[in-house]
Amino acid sequence: MKVFQAIEERRAVKRYNAESKMLPGDFDKIMSAAVLSPTSYNIQHWRFVRVTDKAQREKLKDAAWGQEQVASASELVILCADINAWSDRPQRYVANTPQETQDMLLPMIDAFYNGKEQIQRDETMRSCGIAAQTIMLAAKGLGYDTCPMVGFDREEVARLIRLPQGYVIAMMIAIGKAEQPAHSRGGQLPLSEVLSENHF
Ligand SMILES: Cc1cc2nc3c(=O)[nH]c(=O)nc-3n(C[C@H](O)[C@H](O)[C@H](O)COP(=O)(O)O)c2cc1C
Repeated sequence: MKVFQAIEERRAVKRYNAESKMLPGDFDKIMSAAVLSPTSYNIQHWRFVRVTDKAQREKLKDAAWGQEQVASASELVILCADINAWSDRPQRYVANTPQETQDMLLPMIDAFYNGKEQIQRDETMRSCGIAAQTIMLAAKGLGYDTCPMVGFDREEVARLIRLPQGYVIAMMIAIGKAEQPAHSRGGQLPLSEVLSENHF
């Protein structure tokens, strides 16, 4: 599938065929694509939780106020992130670059994030947001539908997945075979309203 076709055909699908399973290898393909998403300084804040246990899915569905797709989709991935990833052995993020690049980048990472809690957290959401779109487009390219979700009790989900201290949950994504198509688009704002040139 071509990139523009995947972008146009990706929709938030809520009703899934609960019997349908992903083809072997497809989940790994999608997640291997996800980790190629760009992140600031290549920090790769994301930490994904794939929920395969049916009982856990049911508990998560309850925490998501009964949203069916949490239990019925073939796969459910919870996109979490490590707020402190910027300071966790950052040489890993530049390991394949020449020494002089490493010597330049490592102090830059520190200067950019150290002591700046809001920016540390914002960055996790940027990283997960971009990874989410990669997951959704990769899934679409393989013939699956998806639903990104934040409609859940964050504290309860954190408890259920044993979210480590210093981590945040960005969203969940349900992935599977649609049983019902998405509703027609809610109404896109015209480009003229959301795109400015040079300044607002
Ligand atoms: C961050 C985020 C959170 C969302 N949370 C939910 C959710 O909890 N439940 C749901 O049914 N849809 C959820 N959606 C889907 C949106 O409602 C949907 O993307 C939007 O209406 C646009 O429709 P489309 O994705 O089909 O183009 C979420 C989407 C995003 C990006």
